[in-house]
Amino acid sequence: MPDWPLTGLRLSCRDVSLRPVREADLPALATMLPGDFEQDPRLELFPGLSPEENHRRLFHQGYWKALGTWSPSSWVLHLAVTYEGGLVGVQTLEGTDFPVLRTVDSASWLVPRVRGRGLGVAMRTAALGLAFDRLGAVAAVSSAVAGNAASAGVSRRIGYAANGIGSVVVPGGGVAELRHFRLTVQAWRAAGHGRAVTVAGLTPCLPWFGLP
Ligand SMILES: CC(C)(COP(=O)(O)OP(=O)(O)OC[C@H]1O[C@@H](n2cnc3c(N)ncnc32)[C@H](O)[C@@H]1OP(=O)(O)O)[C@@H](O)C(=O)NCCC(=O)NCCS
Repeated sequence: MPDWPLTGLRLSCRDVSLRPVREADLPALATMLPGDFEQDPRLELFPGLSPEENHRRLFHQGYWKALGTWSPSSWVLHLAVTYEGGLVGVQTLEGTDFPVLRTVDSASWLVPRVRGRGLGVAMRTAALGLAFDRLGAVAAVSSAVAGNAASAGVSRRIGYAANGIGSVVVPGGGVAELRHFRLTVQAWRAAGHGRAVTVAGLTPCLPWFGLP
């Protein structure tokens, strides 16, 4: 799509390939969206919908919101993850006030049948390769509710350092402990993770990230 070159962006790391989510992916991705992928608890739920219907609706709206509000200063890139020829999940990379802060956040989910075999690490590594080695990020942050060992495990494996503890309101009004992690570009480079990442189709997208 010439006026929206992000559609041509392609990333890969080991067994996974990533490309921006497309409108046509939404039905399939919404069907496989796992219940343990937590939406932002501040998002309003529609009272006439079941929890599952709200979950899938919020997933659709998250896609449209990211596209509709994209700007070089603040952007959210939802990447569809392909493994063994099929869609298996989504890796999200987010840059808020990116030209100034040069810091990315991330979120991700995988269908349960492919978890626990390193794909979570590979897909986050691919997104970080784009951020650190192509977009000029200086740091990446990640947060996981205490007890989300898989998310924390991905951060630990890639070399994020613990960066404090916070709290978040959970659906129903309770409070959950949130563990924060941070990875610097120096730690990223020292670990050499970027060697496993390929990025294609980025040049026409550079203005989308505020880069010449
Ligand atoms: C988070 C998620 C994408 C990770 O994907 P994954 O492919 O299962 O993770 P990996 O296989 O790459 O594992 C990464 C590390 O975490 C560890 N880990 C993974 N799942 C774990 C679990 N359930 N308990 C403890 N450790 C776990 C792995 O052992 C590995 O560490 P190691 O290499 O030192 O052994 C996946 O579990 C998921 O979709 N979870 C539900 C959604 C979610 O919570 N997303 C994160 C918040 S946005």
